[in-house]
Amino acid sequence: MKVKELMTPKESIPCMSPETYLDAAMSTFFETQLPELPVLENERLVGSLPLRSVLRGTTEALISLKHKEEREKRSSIILQSINEGLIMIDKNLVIREYNRAAEELLGAEASERIGSKAVVITRGTSPVFEVMQTGKPRFNVMSPLSDGRIFSVNYVPMLENGNVVGVIQTFRDITGQEEMRSQLLASRDELDRAFALTLPNSRVEHKLKNTPEYRDVYDPDTGEITITEVIADGGYKHVVNALKVLADLNNKGIMSLLGISKDVLVQSIIFHDLGKSQPQFEIGQTADPLDEFEESYAHAQRSADIAAHFYQRNADVIWLVKYHHHQETQLPSDFPNHLKPMLRLLKLVDGLSAALTRRDATIRLDVDGTRVYVYERNAHPDFNKSRVVDLFTGEIIEIPDYPIIEG
Ligand SMILES: [Fe+2]
Ligand SMILES: [Fe+2]
Repeated sequence: MKVKELMTPKESIPCMSPETYLDAAMSTFFETQLPELPVLENERLVGSLPLRSVLRGTTEALISLKHKEEREKRSSIILQSINEGLIMIDKNLVIREYNRAAEELLGAEASERIGSKAVVITRGTSPVFEVMQTGKPRFNVMSPLSDGRIFSVNYVPMLENGNVVGVIQTFRDITGQEEMRSQLLASRDELDRAFALTLPNSRVEHKLKNTPEYRDVYDPDTGEITITEVIADGGYKHVVNALKVLADLNNKGIMSLLGISKDVLVQSIIFHDLGKSQPQFEIGQTADPLDEFEESYAHAQRSADIAAHFYQRNADVIWLVKYHHHQETQLPSDFPNHLKPMLRLLKLVDGLSAALTRRDATIRLDVDGTRVYVYERNAHPDFNKSRVVDLFTGEIIEIPDYPIIEG
């Protein structure tokens, strides 16, 4: 007997190519029952494939798949179990991961959000973009949401070979803690009463309560303003709001700074606008502010005179009140250097109080050493300006507004 009587003829042997997938090869083995198959490339024999190699290969693949699945299952359990909201976005801002806490905190379904684009509602730059660009994480970014809640958000870059491929945001609701912090500021009535006690006498109170402040809209074409609201006791409200801002800064540690005196500042705030003479306007009236309002230097000088001669305030208070509208470059050469940090603080507090009194602004302050971080939001975005002021150097840097993460 010769081999040819037993062999499988060449035409009946199915061929594999080096590119054939293992599962296809597997079914060929089952169909043909052959223990080994030839591998051809461009009609040339380039190798042979024994069944046992296929079995070993598929078993290994199955085991590693099982490990991978288990790992994925485990990391998904970890992801779901953490109490902080977690959203992972890729570099095209597409949401890739959205855990259960995120669903609860943001009231959205992960199944709807994953795969769709993240909505980053923020004016200016969101930390997401910054982290994408720099590859450096940002932690504990205070983020007020449009519904009034406040979240603390971490932004951590996902790196692959040194390149940022996405950002992981984790966040928690800290509204309760923040509310506790601002409780002092919220109890306005108590503060009002406490403030009345700090006033030198009823004449000062009377003057403040009868100095109006106005809300208006400005027409850039004509340069005129139209009065929209008269705040009859605006002078009083302005001082109370300034003291509120100062109390907030005090809470955050500003008074521990060298050269910052609470007493001097409180007195300066009480007296700074006492010499103000306001025009009388009615709602709906249109006016040219340059004609109608006295130059600010004038009331600053008058207020300083009142503080000095009728109330014998100390020299520091007088300096601060007299120059609270001057640019730093316009200060006289004998202006005491040691008062500059307090002058900067007074001007900051004055401006913020004006925003609170006349524009219903929302303000958030943070103190970091000699720097004050100011996040200011107004109904009219033109006035929005977030900045960091260094009280010692006078340097002012504009900063991005606090972010609002996707909601
Ligand atoms: Fe003033
Ligand atoms: Fe003022």
